[in-house]
Amino acid sequence: MSMLYHIKTYGCQMNHYDSERIEDLLAPLGYKKSDRPEDSDLVILNTCHIREKASEKMYSDLGRLSKYKENKIKIGSDLKIVVTGCVAQAEGEQIIKRNRDVDFVLGPQSYHKITELLNKKNQEKLHNFFPKESKFDYFPKTETKNISAFVTIQEGCDKFCSFCVVPYTRGPEFSRTVNEIVYEIKHLSNQGVREVTLLGQNVSDYKGMYQKDGKLEKLDLSKLIDKISDIDGINRIRYITSHPSDISSKLIHEHKTNMKLMPYLHLPIQSGSDRILKKMNRGYTQKNYVDIVTKIKEVRKDFAVTSDFIVGFPGETDDDFLQTLNLTDKVDFAASYSFKYSPRPGTPSSLLKDEVPESVSNKRLQILQKKLDESQKKFNNSFVGKKLSVLFEKRGKKSNQFVGRSQYLQPVHVNSDESIIGKILDIKINKVEAFSLHGEI
Ligand code: SAH
Ligand code: SF4
Ligand code: F3S
Repeated sequence: MSMLYHIKTYGCQMNHYDSERIEDLLAPLGYKKSDRPEDSDLVILNTCHIREKASEKMYSDLGRLSKYKENKIKIGSDLKIVVTGCVAQAEGEQIIKRNRDVDFVLGPQSYHKITELLNKKNQEKLHNFFPKESKFDYFPKTETKNISAFVTIQEGCDKFCSFCVVPYTRGPEFSRTVNEIVYEIKHLSNQGVREVTLLGQNVSDYKGMYQKDGKLEKLDLSKLIDKISDIDGINRIRYITSHPSDISSKLIHEHKTNMKLMPYLHLPIQSGSDRILKKMNRGYTQKNYVDIVTKIKEVRKDFAVTSDFIVGFPGETDDDFLQTLNLTDKVDFAASYSFKYSPRPGTPSSLLKDEVPESVSNKRLQILQKKLDESQKKFNNSFVGKKLSVLFEKRGKKSNQFVGRSQYLQPVHVNSDESIIGKILDIKINKVEAFSLHGEI
């Protein structure tokens, strides 16, 4: 009988990419994926540490897993519990102390060790140092049925924004080589992938080595995108997340000339107040941000921008918040995420004393979210009666319904048949419902 495993992924796309790599590592060991943790022989929690809520969720899940493990031991079997991801990195020792049923704790740069650990007895529980070797060298070739795929091109972060745990949980920034990335994407394309999203906490700062005919050179993100555009079958390229300090004129130019590169940019601003941006150590002002957006929209009129916001950063006054609202009047965001500030252990801003009262943060979040939702609705409604270019990925909920994504990542539904999957078609939009669009070919 084959062994069953269950994996739960919290957090960002990079964690989802890591979970897929863990699946690739487990497949040759004979493990089959299950959606029932209670019946599994192995459960992996791939965790996120970005906000307090995200890591608390993990501890309550662990409590439940302990019970499942107890049940399995009673019938003479076992359930191995493995914690990976950013909480594993940040709180590895506490996890083992708080829950003795956890078998292994593996940080985001060490999880390739899982195969070795599962195969041998009496292994150390904690593996959360940053190893010398690269996990990427350990991954078998992936198999996928997806039309759209994510590829991590860069790991870690050296920006040290004062509120953020990523530099501590993912470690220092490093870029994978161009050759390695192109090889991985060719393999994905051969399996039917038509769109790739290049991942990193700081992709706009990508600098990877490229080797050709014995020569070695360093390429930036725009050059990497050029190389990926040459791969047969890859019709769409995206990248996430960028930092406003690293948006080069070369990257903007790439958006003008490369039609495989989607006219879309997720560019987190966090706050519209220069005073708060400085305290966050973000390295730009509201004006710098607006200038970047203006420049991009000059080279491509059909360009859309989305963002992330934090409200209630320590010391944020009504006036600071007003600056954030003012910014949302200056830039028409196509979509956005907004979060209430969460003080994270070990970060510089967690030491600041001038906390914003919870009730004030809640109110600000509500006001901002309402504005951002309105902005998104306005953006979506502007396409009614017009055409969007849609890459179809899968069946919808209703019969004969198929769903794809527009160049701006909006989900678009049409009635059609299976042959539409993997194709990019112009779709006339008839109506907008909640945040999804409906149209016809
Ligand atoms: N590298 C990206 C962000 C990655 S984290 C960037 O530089 O923008 C994703 C988002 O989580 C951030 O954009 C921020 O809005 C939010 N976030 C990060 N730390 C947070 C914290 N301590 N409290 C609340 N939100 C946070
Ligand atoms: Fe965190 Fe800032 Fe790095 Fe983004 S750029 S991952 S917010 S430290
Ligand atoms: Fe969370 Fe780690 Fe991603 S903290 S957002 S899973 S890099």
